[in-house]
Amino acid sequence: MQPKREYWSTRIGLILAVAGNAIGLGNFLRFPVQAAEHGGGAFMIPYMISFIVLGLPLLWVEWTLGRYGGQRGHGTAVAVFDYIWKNPIAKYLGILGVVIPLVVVVYYTYVESWTLAFSFFSLFGSLPDTTITSSVKDYLRPFEEFLSSFIGVTSESDVFLKPSVWAYLFFVVTIFINLYILFRGISAGIERVARFALPLIFVLAIVLLVRVITLTSPDGRNFLDGFGFLWNPDFSALTQPQVWLAAAGQIFFTLSIGFGAILTYASYLKPKSDVALNALATASVNEFAEVVLGASIAITASVIFFGAVATKQIAQEGAFSLGFIALPAIFANTPFGEFFGFLWFLLLFFAGVTSSIALSQPAIAFLEDEFNLPRKKAVMYLGMFLFVTAHIPIFFKGALDELDFWIGTLALAVFALLEAILFMWILDSKRAWEELNRYADIRVPSVFYYILKYVSPLFLLVILVSWVVESLPSALAKTGISIWVARGFIIFVIVLGVVLVKIAWSRRGR
Ligand code: ALA
Repeated sequence: MQPKREYWSTRIGLILAVAGNAIGLGNFLRFPVQAAEHGGGAFMIPYMISFIVLGLPLLWVEWTLGRYGGQRGHGTAVAVFDYIWKNPIAKYLGILGVVIPLVVVVYYTYVESWTLAFSFFSLFGSLPDTTITSSVKDYLRPFEEFLSSFIGVTSESDVFLKPSVWAYLFFVVTIFINLYILFRGISAGIERVARFALPLIFVLAIVLLVRVITLTSPDGRNFLDGFGFLWNPDFSALTQPQVWLAAAGQIFFTLSIGFGAILTYASYLKPKSDVALNALATASVNEFAEVVLGASIAITASVIFFGAVATKQIAQEGAFSLGFIALPAIFANTPFGEFFGFLWFLLLFFAGVTSSIALSQPAIAFLEDEFNLPRKKAVMYLGMFLFVTAHIPIFFKGALDELDFWIGTLALAVFALLEAILFMWILDSKRAWEELNRYADIRVPSVFYYILKYVSPLFLLVILVSWVVESLPSALAKTGISIWVARGFIIFVIVLGVVLVKIAWSRRGR
């Protein structure tokens, strides 16, 4: 017998949970780096256009598909695609909606564990000291070395990392925290944590923002320089494809679209719930957290301390350069810096947890819905899988970036394109539109009908083609044991997914 599906218990709990799904390391770590690396103001126009033509419409698609699946007792794209498209291949395409979040969560949880570790390091004063020098590189060096030895990139080997014991211990603790929340279920676990974590994230972010805007530098820079860097538009960048690619990629990552995770969360809606307004509300909360709070903390602090040119260079050093190196180094020479460093990493940790549990949920839903497994058993299997496979990004040099490129970047656009086509072209656009507006508390403006039907898929296609042209040759040219381990892992998870779908469908004679 099919176990009874759970529901979100309150509307505010639902909005906070889905906002928690979206608000994550992407908002506070990834966005500042992407924005600074691509010129601040130059990034914001493509970012906002991507939000309107990709982000919001695709969010509506995922919410609607999720509610559609939930009404039929299923919470992943596997079954939803199968309902919509009467073609045997549909369910196998849908497996991407489980594979993508599952692979991302493997490395996401590891990075999340660094934030927990760094919050303790800040609190107990174990982060390095640094003295103000005229060279930004010298100033940041102790923090750069600290992070490198924490994750073990300093190891002599070309293949293996040598993480510190702390990195491993905090990873284990983080996995347990995630599993515990998931174990408790949708409303008693995920929803309850979101009700507490989301307000906390906002309070922490506002406290940090106030700290940052009261910083000044000996050169006389203040927060207005930071805001100017981000908000002075640079129209010349509109002709650069990389800026568009980065902006669209950020929109996918931050809103959690193209993962399948929003779809799964929406499947726990009560059958007659609104999706139009709920999706808009969560998108707005996420964007506030990203462009108002996320951007203003790390970028503004860095521009005040180091200037706009150096901030861009720091961002170009890598995904963790602003959040794990520059910001704690800035706090190191400000009053109560350790305390603010602690708040910063705590903020990242809570933002990370509410996203990693969301990215874990599609795999759990798949086991529950398609194999009738009890939740606790499904969580246990997931836990074993995560624990074992996380050793790939923990111990193999470059594996994390490789997984992030193929799955955390490229696959998101592919899956989002599939969703858009299935929804507006295969389900039939009139029916899809009705489905979106059913039980809706707002009427979605009809211009979005055309955006969804024509603009979003076309824009996605252009993005994908440019991506292939821009990044694929150099990505494919990469070789080495770690790279192949990461790729092998991706192939393994896809094959595993296909086999499981085959078994589930044949067991029920479908
Ligand atoms: N949307 C999640 C984040 O921003 C995955 O981190």
